[in-house]
Amino acid sequence: METKRRILVTGGCGFIGANFIRLLLAQKSDWRVINLDKLTYAGNLQNLEGVTESEQYRFVKADICDADVMEALFVEEQIDFVVHFAAESHVDRSISGPAAFIQTNIVGTFTLLEAARKSWLSGSWRGNDPRFLHVSTDEVFGSLGDTGMFTETTPFDPRSPYSASKASSDHLVNAYFHTYDLPILITNCSNNYGPYQFPEKLIPLVFHNSMTGKELPIYGDGKYVRDWLYVKDHCEAIVEVLVKGKIGQSYNIGGNNEKQNLEVVTLICDILDKKTGLPASGAPRRELITFVKDRLGHDRRYAIDASFIKEQLGWEPKVTFEEGIEKTVDWYLANQDWVGSVIDGTYQKYYEKMYG
Ligand code: NAD
Ligand code: DAU
Repeated sequence: METKRRILVTGGCGFIGANFIRLLLAQKSDWRVINLDKLTYAGNLQNLEGVTESEQYRFVKADICDADVMEALFVEEQIDFVVHFAAESHVDRSISGPAAFIQTNIVGTFTLLEAARKSWLSGSWRGNDPRFLHVSTDEVFGSLGDTGMFTETTPFDPRSPYSASKASSDHLVNAYFHTYDLPILITNCSNNYGPYQFPEKLIPLVFHNSMTGKELPIYGDGKYVRDWLYVKDHCEAIVEVLVKGKIGQSYNIGGNNEKQNLEVVTLICDILDKKTGLPASGAPRRELITFVKDRLGHDRRYAIDASFIKEQLGWEPKVTFEEGIEKTVDWYLANQDWVGSVIDGTYQKYYEKMYG
């Protein structure tokens, strides 16, 4: 079969990237998918188990900050689509150690943009309609009060080292469009949840702790609000933007599911009590909830207005929070080996077993 597209996915062994590659390999049988990942603590080859045997797929272990590797890969594979997920993604880690965020999220994105520019804007480029889609976050817009929503024109106001590094990368991507006409697209999305999320993030952390009788740490008063987006809905939105989006445009992607953290945590506890029975202690899992010291600079509320992408591309989220959280809990219950290996770090030995 003729290969229609040669797509580079960065960070494809992480949470959203792995869900995205699974979707691509299922839906786009005539696309060649090159997954480039450094395999940091958050990258896990097991996230792609069962799909990587496909002839459409190639894995490259590399750092997006390595300019030589990136430039050679564009030439060797004649890449024409890029979907850039690779990043340091956890806000708490950015507070305790910001350096890696500056390096990967800013310098790494710059390195990738340079590789795309050198490949696509050179006289020897033989393809057509190349596209560089940068996956970003609603956190670039800052924090909301009780009302209002982020739109595509909300000014940037990042407040953590993580969101400041993502905002910087968004600015760089836009600059390459305005300065060099590099064909870029940007997506800014809300909090994702679903299979394969690293258990440092709220939802998988609460699943793991409540299954193992550990405290469920709630930062501050627990009334912080996030807009939850089921990861498969997000991945479908990215395909729409990649294929049909207007070059140079950014698109907000949200789940229309605003919830306070305490609501989310209580709901997971109650679902687990119902599905698995009460733990040996006999106490409902919600009793594990423990209020702890707040995150520094904690953003109060995020809310995405996703009407632009609906009007322009016809995308809207399909999965309600109630359906999505049920599916997610079922997935984690059925994949407790995955959660266990991620927690104890054995997944990091998987690469050696697979690739020597
Ligand atoms: P993740 O932390 O689960 O995965 C990140 C992946 O990037 C890992 O596989 C890691 O090994 C890889 N990586 C990190 N540094 C690298 C480097 N220097 N070179 C190559 N690979 C590297 O992240 P995620 O939650 O899947 O998020 C993916 C993207 O989506 C990020 O850009 C993040 O900012 C953005 N985003 C995430 C969410 C969310 O709720 N998770 C919401 C909005 C935006
Ligand atoms: O909004 C999009 C962002 O969502 C992404 O850009 C980030 O990559 C992603 O990590 C996520 O950031 P958050 O900081 O919102 O996600 P996290 O799961 O860390 O926290 C969700 C909320 O829960 C937040 O208000 C902090 C709170 N929290 C988190 C943890 C880990 C707790 O109360 N206790 C916890 O133990």
